[in-house]
Formats: sequence, C-alpha cells, structure tokens
Amino acid sequence: MKKLVKNILPETIKSIIRASKTYQYIYNKNHANKLASSGKKLDICANEIGFYMLYTGQEKYVLRNKVCLEVGSGWLLTHTLVFYLLGARRIYATDIEPLLQCQYISKAVSQSVNWSILDSLSNFEDRHLIKSRLDNLLSVKRFSIQTLRNFGIEYISPVDLSQKLPIEENLDFIFSKSVLEHVPVADIIPMLENLERELSEEGFMFHLIHLTDHRDLENNPFNFLVYSPEDYSRELQTRWGNRIRRSQWQEIFSNLKTLDFKFVFEWSRQDKALPTEINPCIQYTDEEDLRTSHIGVYLKRTPQTVTSVGGNKQ
Ligand SMILES: C[S@@+](CC[C@H](N)C(=O)[O-])C[C@H]1O[C@@H](n2cnc3c(N)ncnc32)[C@H](O)[C@@H]1O
Repeated sequence: MKKLVKNILPETIKSIIRASKTYQYIYNKNHANKLASSGKKLDICANEIGFYMLYTGQEKYVLRNKVCLEVGSGWLLTHTLVFYLLGARRIYATDIEPLLQCQYISKAVSQSVNWSILDSLSNFEDRHLIKSRLDNLLSVKRFSIQTLRNFGIEYISPVDLSQKLPIEENLDFIFSKSVLEHVPVADIIPMLENLERELSEEGFMFHLIHLTDHRDLENNPFNFLVYSPEDYSRELQTRWGNRIRRSQWQEIFSNLKTLDFKFVFEWSRQDKALPTEINPCIQYTDEEDLRTSHIGVYLKRTPQTVTSVGGNKQ
C-alpha cells in the first residue's frame, strides 16, 4: 500500500512532502534505526574500511595520531568510529545536512560482532589497542555530540565543502562513501579542489562512488541517463545521483594538479538493460562506461621530484 501511494504521487507532491520538517524528522529517525542494525553496524563498517585500506596498499598504523575528515557522514558516523578504533587523533565528520541521530549509535556498536571488528582492523593497528578502544565505545549507553568529542570526533553540519572547508589543520586522510555521486555536478570540482588544498603532504583520500540511479537502484539502475539537463535539477542530482560516468570522473580527478589518483576497484551492472536513448548531455565513452556502477578512488599527492608514480595521472 505504502509503495502504491509512493508510485502514484507525482514527483512535485513528493518533493513538497519530503521537504517538510515533520517528514524529515520521522524519516531520519526511522532510517537511522534501520541502518544501526544493517549496513551501518560497526562490524560492517570496520570490514569496509579494512578492505579499502588493503585495496589502497596501506600499512600498519596508517591512521594512528592522524587527522581525518569524513565527507557526508550521514546518520550514524560509524565509519568515523572505525577511524577512532584505528587510533586517529582527531576526526571531523561533516555533512551538508545535519542528519546525525546520536541515539542510535550505541545500537550500531552493541549489535556488532566484536571479533569481526578486530579481525578487519588488526592489519592496521595493534589488536589490543583496538580492543580497548572498542570497550570504550561499548561502555557508552547513549551517545551525544559531547561523547563523540571525547573520542576526538567533531561533528560539523550543515556545511557545504564546495564553498569552504571550516577546518584549520591539515588533513591526513579524507574519506567518503556513497557521497560524491550526490554532489551536484557544478559543485564537484570546487569541493575536490578545497579537499586537495587541505590534504597534508603525506595524506591520502579514498572515495567510494556509487554511479547508478538511486531512485531505483535494484531494478532501474540507468534510468536517470534519459533526462535532459532542464528536467534534471540540482535537487534530483542530489537525490538520484549526479550521473557523472566513470570516464568523466577520470577526467575530473586527473585535472587535480597536485594529486595522483587510481581507481583501485571498479564494478559494473550487466543485469539490466540500458535505456534505448541516452540524453546527449551525458558524457561517456562506451557502453562499459555507462554500465560502471561503483568506483573506489585513491588519491595521494604527486611526489615533487618524481614525474609519475605508476602512471596514475591517467
Ligand atoms: C547515501 S548517504 C551516505 C552517508 C554515509 N557516508 C554512509 O555511508 O552511510 C549520502 C550522504 O551524502 C550527503 N550529501 C549529499 N549532498 C552532499 C553535498 N553536496 N556535500 C556533502 N555531502 C552531501 C548526505 O547528506 C548524506 O549524508
């Protein structure tokens, strides 16, 4: 029934409902509660970070005493808790909208499997230290902005990082998961240039970008490629995805003057048909470019004295 009503209502009405404070209040609470026992459990996030660190060739103590930034930290900040477990000194969790629901964080922590967290992270920090930090997190019954601060986590929202980076110190690690695809096309380069400027000399970034249509990820992953720019507002770019394809991301990252980048993984969707007509505004090279569904992007400063490392300025 809920699905039927959702499908019948025109987009304009849905937008009005979604923009209301009451809807957002209820949605954010329900969503956070769901995420706390699914995709944002601490063990799942530790697992993801462990993989990303392996994919990007990081070594032991990669985050110990480091300063980290998460872009688009969402409802639960569980990835930032993983950076705390790895010994980060300070972690800035930022978001364009204040989505954070602190009251569900302890659920995401306590419903996790402890040994899985330890196994995922022990390549990158001493296991007994991860364990004692995990015990610290488990001892918190109800998280708040202040308890997060006690773990070195500073929540900054609302903030638009394409406008400015409200952080005074250099950043050793910049992370985002499922965020850059929500940033309107016009804001991507200013945002990446702001991040580039604040990255420390030895610092690195990792961004997981999800390139399919968020309106119906499962059944219609490419449908958004049919819309003309006039029919695809900034609001839709944020909601369904900005539609930047792999080759355009490649171009954007190669234009960052002081950074080398590498796609450390890329996956594609072959199970669904592409639309018969792709709008001419979509920049792409071939079918595979359109079908790419996820990219994992690793960026690091270009060494000053060496012309190229591994040919990553693609
Ligand atoms: C799919 S959620 C992912 C949240 C979190 N990274 C996670 O893995 O659960 C997308 C996030 O991107 C944020 N976002 C959307 N547009 C943004 C923008 N222009 N700048 C920064 N963050 C943005 C949203 O507020 C939200 O937190």
